[in-house]
This record gives sequence, structure tokens and C-alpha cells, in this order.
Amino acid sequence: MKVNMSVSGQFRKVTRKTFMLMKQKSVKITALTAYDFLTAQLLDQAGIDLILVGDSLGNVFQGNETTLPVTMDEMIYHTIAVTKGVQRAMVVTDMPFMSYQLSADEAFRNAGRIMKETSSGGVKIEGGERVADAIYKITEAGIPVMGHIGLTPQSIHQFGSYKERGTSEDEAAELIKDAKILEQAGAFSIVLEKIPADVAKTITESISIPTIGIGAGRFCDGQILVTPDMLGLNKEFHPRFVRYYAQLADSIDSAVKQYINDIKSMDFPNDSESY
Ligand code: KIV
Repeated sequence: MKVNMSVSGQFRKVTRKTFMLMKQKSVKITALTAYDFLTAQLLDQAGIDLILVGDSLGNVFQGNETTLPVTMDEMIYHTIAVTKGVQRAMVVTDMPFMSYQLSADEAFRNAGRIMKETSSGGVKIEGGERVADAIYKITEAGIPVMGHIGLTPQSIHQFGSYKERGTSEDEAAELIKDAKILEQAGAFSIVLEKIPADVAKTITESISIPTIGIGAGRFCDGQILVTPDMLGLNKEFHPRFVRYYAQLADSIDSAVKQYINDIKSMDFPNDSESY
């Protein structure tokens, strides 16, 4: 099968089909979150394959303890900003808490709203078997759906903590079963969050759609991180699955301190910065 690649070795406009080909060719999928135009543009220009407008914006953008307060209107607002900055990557929008749990019809209506009001390429839904009907209904209408199992932050009050999932044999077996059900329901990929690497490996080898890991080890078909976490913007939050690729909190701190000094000492603005 011919894979759609440019001379630089990168895939052209990424779609759900690209991800299937990448899995078949064992090409790792790269994913990050974005909530605004400029960040999305930078991620896209750097060559990221998938940009998730995650409901993690409830934590890192809005400063909430959990993702539960995030609304449909907010997800739509952020997705509109993100998609304006993206040309190549596939953009996927998280369906927020209570936008899909009530019924498959309600899930379908809200997924449709995201697709009609933004330029998103698909939606993401947390949960296993219990969301299979919703995923089936949405994908039947031609909307790509990404699943999300393991630690699902919208169920934090049920779990009681952000501890890793799938560590017991029963829970691991349930995750493997859920992954197969989501594939059958029509999901085009599944996020595996905070589960043991060997369980993620078994899931990845058991299904034909790609797995995207976050705290799920190296055997997933791709990896995702929350962008402010991997850029070192949030120094309070450093679980072991987050690798810092920059120290932006430190860079911003020293830049702002320098700016304050330059103003106080009348170094800024100088003649060439004035009219
Ligand atoms: O909301 C989010 O950013 C996510 C990722 C952590 C996968 O769901």
C-alpha cells in the first residue's frame, strides 16, 4: 500500500486514514494539545501529526482542579482558534463532561455541533463499553471518533485519584476488552492514559486502529502530552510520564524580570524603539 509522503518524509494533510497507514507501516504518531491559535500554528509548523483541543484546558488554561466544568461552548471557542493555525495536522476536539453521557442521541448532536461550528477533524470521547453506542452513532454519520481509556480524567470522582489504571489482572482484561469494543464501534484511534506499558503493548497488538499513549509506555503507536506540561510551563505538575522539552516557566520568569528592570532603568524603550 502506498503511503502519502512528501519528499521531506512527512505525510501530507493528516486524516484518520493517514493514522491507519502509519500503524500499518509502524510509523510513530506524534500528538500534542493546543488551545489557542499561536501554539497550534507552532505545533503544526514543527510537524506534529495530531493536535488535540483537550478538555485539559480546564486545568492548564482555566486553572480548575478538574476537567469537569468545561463546557461545549468553550470547546468550540478554543477549537475555532486552534484550527485557524493548522494546515497539516489532524485536529481533534475533546467532548466535555456531560456532552455525551446522557444518550447516544445527545452525544451525536453535540459531536455534530463541533463539526458544524468549527473546522475540527473529529472528536474524542472518554470511556469504554458504556460509550460504544455513542461512538457507533457518531461514526455512522461520518464523524471520526477517538476513544480514550485507562485513566479518564472526567471520571476522577469515580476513581478517587489520578493513580495509574489497569494494574490488576481484572482491570487490565477490562481495558483490553474495552479497546476491542471501541474499535468495533468505529473509533479511528484510542488514547491510552496512565496504564502499565505491557498492558498498552497487548492492546496495541490486539487492535488494528492506532493507540496513542500518555503515560502508557513506548509500545503504543503514538504518543501525546499536554503541551504546557512538556514545555515546562507548569512547574507544580511533573508526573514521571512528562518529559520536559523546554523550561518555559524559567524563560518567562527571566524575560519578565528583565523587562521590569529595563523599564525602571529607562533602558526600554530606547531611541530606535521610539518614534
Ligand atoms: O484533555 C486532554 O488533554 C487529554 C489528553 C491528556 C489525552 O485528554
